[in-house]
Amino acid sequence: MQEMSELTALDREFVQDPWAVYRRLRADGPVQRVLAPGGIPMWLVTSYTDARALLADPRLSKDYAGVRELFPPGHAGQYNSPLAAHMLNSDPPAHTRLRRLVDQALTARAVSRLRPRIEQIADELLGGLPAGPPVDLIGAYAVPLAITVICDLLGVPAADRSNFRAWSRAFVSAVPPEVVRDAERSVTAYLTALTDAKRVSPSGDLLSDLVHISGQPGQLWPDELVRMAFLLLVAGFETTVSLIGNGVLSLLRNPGQLHLLRSEPALLPGAIEEFLRYEGPLHVATMRFTTEPVPVGDTEIPAEALVMISLLAANRDGARFADPDVLDITRQDPGHLAFGHGIHYCAGAPLARLEGQIAIGRLLSRFPALTLPGEAGEPGRNAGAGELHWRGSLLMHSLSSLPVRLA
Ligand code: HEM
Repeated sequence: MQEMSELTALDREFVQDPWAVYRRLRADGPVQRVLAPGGIPMWLVTSYTDARALLADPRLSKDYAGVRELFPPGHAGQYNSPLAAHMLNSDPPAHTRLRRLVDQALTARAVSRLRPRIEQIADELLGGLPAGPPVDLIGAYAVPLAITVICDLLGVPAADRSNFRAWSRAFVSAVPPEVVRDAERSVTAYLTALTDAKRVSPSGDLLSDLVHISGQPGQLWPDELVRMAFLLLVAGFETTVSLIGNGVLSLLRNPGQLHLLRSEPALLPGAIEEFLRYEGPLHVATMRFTTEPVPVGDTEIPAEALVMISLLAANRDGARFADPDVLDITRQDPGHLAFGHGIHYCAGAPLARLEGQIAIGRLLSRFPALTLPGEAGEPGRNAGAGELHWRGSLLMHSLSSLPVRLA
C-alpha cells in the first residue's frame, strides 16, 4: 500500500485542470488511492469499463449513514445533514420504492410537454441580454433558466426561487460546515412549509402529486417527501447550469464544430451528447463504499472503503472512445457515463437533454456572432480561456462564470 505522502491530491489545481492528472492515473491502472479534499484517502476509478461496471455493482453501497461513518470525524460535510438521506444516497429496497414514485413524472414523454414553456423562458432571458459588453452566460442565462424550469416543474413559487441558488450551492460546493448547516435549516423549513401548503391546496405540479401520495402505506413518508423535494431541486439545477455552460464553452473553443452546428442544426441532439461526454457536468459520481473487498484490475479495494467513480475520466478513456480529447459533434458512439449507470442512472436525463437542446439551440440562433472576449488574436483557441475559473468543487465540473460577447 502506498504511503499517504505518495498519493495524488485532488486539490484546487486539479479542479482547474484535471485532464493531465486523469491521463496519468489511468495509465497507472483503472483504480488508484488518492487524497480527496481535506486530505481524506479514497479510491478513484478512472477507466471506462470499470467505472461502468462499478456504478451498477451491488457490492458498492450508497447508504447515507454508511458513507457518513467512513469519513474521519468532522469531515462528513453534507452527509451530516438529515436532508442527505434521500433516494440518491440509499440502496434497495428503499431506493426502488422511491425511484418508482418520480420516474413517471420525468419520462421523455412527460417532460416533452414542458418544451413550449422552456422555449419561452429561454427566449425571454435572451431578449434581456445586452448585445455590447461581455455578458456572463452562467449568471444571466444558464442559472435563471435552470432554476425557473425545475421550480416550475416542482411548483416552487417564483418569488421564492432566488434562495435556491444559495442553498443548493452550499450542498455541492466546498464551503464551511456552518454555511451547510444554515442552508440545511433554511431549506428544510421552507420545503416543510411549502409541502404543508400543497397538502391544503394542491397546485397541479410534481410536489403536489408527491404530497398527495405521502403518508399512504408503501409510498412516501412525510420526511422522505422533504428530502425528495430537496434532491430534485439540487440535482435538477446545478447540473443543468453546468451542461449549458460547458457546452457553450466547448463550442467556442472549437470554432469548426460551432460552424458545423450552425450550418446543420439537426446535429443538436448529438452535440448535446458529445458535450456531456467531452466536458461533462460532474467530475465524479456521488460517494459509494465497498461492503466487501472488490477486485478492480490487479488491485483489490478493501471492504469499508470510500470510492469515487470519475465520470470525466471514464468519458475520455481512449480504450473506449476514439480520439477522446477531440470534440466531435457527429460522433456516432453513445454510451457516455455523464448521467451515471445502473439503478441510480439520472432520473432527470430526459429533462436535462431537453433543456440543453433548447438553451443552446436558442442561444445560437439568436446570436450568430457569439465569441469569447479576447478571442480574435488566436484563431482556434481563445485568448480569454486562461481567465476562466472552474468552481472549487470535486463534484461539479462547472464554471464560476462564462463571459461571452453576443455581437
Ligand atoms: C445535465 C444535467 C444532469 C446531469 C449530468 C446529471 C447527472 C446525474 C448522475 C451522474 C446521477 C447519478 C449519480 C450517481 O450514481 O452517483 C444522477 C442522479 C439523479 N439525477 Fe441527474 N443529472 C442531470 C440533471 C438532472 C435533472 C434535470 C434532474 C431533475 C429533474 C435530475 C435528477 C436526478 C435524480 C433524482 C437522481 C437520483 C437518481 C437515483 O438515485 O435513482 N438530474 N444525475
